[in-house]
Amino acid sequence: MILYPHFDVNEKGHLTIGGADAVELAERFGTPAYIIDENVVRARCREYLTAAAESFGKDALPLYASKALCFTEMYRIAKEEGMGIDCVSSGELYTARRAEFPAERIYFHGNNKTDADIALAMDMGVGRIVVDNTDELDAVSAEALRRGITQGILLRITPGIDPHTHRAVVTGNVDSKFGSAIATGQALEIVQRAINASGVELVGLHCHIGSQIFDIEPFSDAADIMVRFIAEIKEKLGCEIRELNLGGGLGVAYTEDDAQISYADSIAKIGKIVRSFCSEHNITAPRVILEPGRSLVAAAGATLYTVGSVKEITGFRNYISVDGGMPDNPRYALYQSQYTALIANRASEARDYVATLAGRCCESGDLLGENMKIQRAKRGDILAVLVTGAYNYSMASNYNRIPRPPVILVKDGEARVAVKRESFEDIVRNDI
Ligand code: LLP
Repeated sequence: MILYPHFDVNEKGHLTIGGADAVELAERFGTPAYIIDENVVRARCREYLTAAAESFGKDALPLYASKALCFTEMYRIAKEEGMGIDCVSSGELYTARRAEFPAERIYFHGNNKTDADIALAMDMGVGRIVVDNTDELDAVSAEALRRGITQGILLRITPGIDPHTHRAVVTGNVDSKFGSAIATGQALEIVQRAINASGVELVGLHCHIGSQIFDIEPFSDAADIMVRFIAEIKEKLGCEIRELNLGGGLGVAYTEDDAQISYADSIAKIGKIVRSFCSEHNITAPRVILEPGRSLVAAAGATLYTVGSVKEITGFRNYISVDGGMPDNPRYALYQSQYTALIANRASEARDYVATLAGRCCESGDLLGENMKIQRAKRGDILAVLVTGAYNYSMASNYNRIPRPPVILVKDGEARVAVKRESFEDIVRNDI
């Protein structure tokens, strides 16, 4: 096992992903390629569904934050597992519709929905629109009125939590492009406006405090602030908030240095905290919704590359260059995110070589990692970067006109294409 049970080494010394030989996958599908272990995704969905039902009751609905990894088959998997989904754009809505995802289980997010986005969401009949601001509230209300419907909405609220500190700094994240802040009084104003607006029904509140969070404290702080706010709404405006969406954000281990947390335990703790805050403030516990993205799909993924060159710069460092890079994984360039890499065709050898992993773009910052421990590499080796299931394919670009890799789903050792490799023809398709 390497990091997770679904990454292992077979008798040939090859990396296996969900029981499939990574070297054979590279031969069959080419490189670079994203490989996703479907069983891991399904198991994570079930963990969330079971834990949410136990903690929040039978009508609990975990939403898959589909920005983490989005393609038609992924929505079909979420649908089969009984998840709801969070969509943030018309593109995601359109893909969900293609997968015949049940519209009532779609929550439509985004801090700047266009009229066309709102219209598509209403054409599809999405369950909830998560309204970010007053301009948007007015636009949603007007469109619903025009159609003669009542649209269920949540309001996005900024609780003012800095998830990287243990205790809430109440003004921490008030300065955000998302939502309305409780601290400035604007949250209460938008609630009042939503109560008075026609064509919309204020069902609940939403907050999202951040991503890649390992501690429960920031969630507990957010729940505390949100429950107090729900109590204030009841007291001052006489309105009962029935849904509380606490967003996503639970962390994932990318390297051996990261903690691996139990999502079931975290959900149970959040459930307990919300219930106790509700009884403390004497309010009926709302339906609690969680919105995980990364923790459902990150660990399930790996990206396979072919090594093109190894360059040892005397007195400086060693570069291993691969046939992908920032176009398929911009996360090191953007956030210096750490990954685990290995040579898939010699996976049982010690990772005692230190190298910088470079991509193939004409840009020095096109790196997948620096000072990474890996096996000695040579041209033609298959190099795997693990835990790339979240925010890799979904953030991929065509920089340098490099076609995007395919997404291959592996299940019990069998592989199938979920998204085809882009061709050069795909790249020029919209060029006039
Ligand atoms: N709900 C909302 C409203 C969000 O904005 C997000 C993530 C999620 C749920 C899911 O959060 P998760 O469980 O995945 O942490 N591109 C960055 C991550 C951006 C996350 C944005 N919002 C990365 O590659 O790390």
